Amino acid sequence: MPPRRLHDRYFKQAKRDGYLARSAYKLIEIDQRHKILRPGLRVLDLGCSPGSWLQVAADAVTERGMVVGIDLKPVRAPMPSHVRTIEADAYKIDPAELIALATPPNASPTARPRAFDVLLSDMAPDTSGHDDDLRSAHLCRQILALAPALLRHGGSLAMKIFEGAEYAPVLAETRAVFDNVKGLKPDATRSVSREMYIVAKGFRAAAPEQTQSQEERAP
Ligand SMILES: C[S@@+](CC[C@H](N)C(=O)[O-])C[C@H]1O[C@@H](n2cnc3c(N)ncnc32)[C@H](O)[C@@H]1O
Repeated sequence: MPPRRLHDRYFKQAKRDGYLARSAYKLIEIDQRHKILRPGLRVLDLGCSPGSWLQVAADAVTERGMVVGIDLKPVRAPMPSHVRTIEADAYKIDPAELIALATPPNASPTARPRAFDVLLSDMAPDTSGHDDDLRSAHLCRQILALAPALLRHGGSLAMKIFEGAEYAPVLAETRAVFDNVKGLKPDATRSVSREMYIVAKGFRAAAPEQTQSQEERAP
């Protein structure tokens, strides 16, 4: 295998731009192409450490929005006040706890917690070389299983998946619950990498009568 070129263009650019990781440019490109982030939105970032997607999402939603991040590892870098992070396993999370974390501190005590507008996942299994694509697909299926409890009707999703036998089935499973689904390999992804992103818009939540008011209140 060729040696990893750590000091590639995006690595240097991330240093210059103050991002915690080169991955920032993947989310920037996803958003430039698909327009999933905007001021006022509530975003959940799964697999958020060290925190460069949190930085990009926080800038995009501004202080009018909220960003909640979870990861097995802590986020050590300081973040703006509209970002909250917890150490948690995506297989063991409590959706109500995450939605409560996205309630702004200045919200009225009678304001009802509401679901996220956008789910992001850059989660990757520990790459052992064995079944990495299957474990990556498993993480994606966990997000799809959690979406009804976490994401509002009409909401968006961007999630990483390794190309492999399960890529097409996961794409189809995503299409079953979102109106508009695309696969994307951002420029900042290393050419040797098998990572892809599935970007999905227009989530079809199961209970429209319950979610309609959430949609109406979305910025
Ligand atoms: C590529 S890194 C994310 C980089 C991040 N998007 C950024 O820009 O800083 C992948 C992360 O997924 C996390 N992860 C993997 N499996 C997870 C799980 N089951 N639950 C939560 N986080 C997980 C890892 O701990 C790792 O920090």
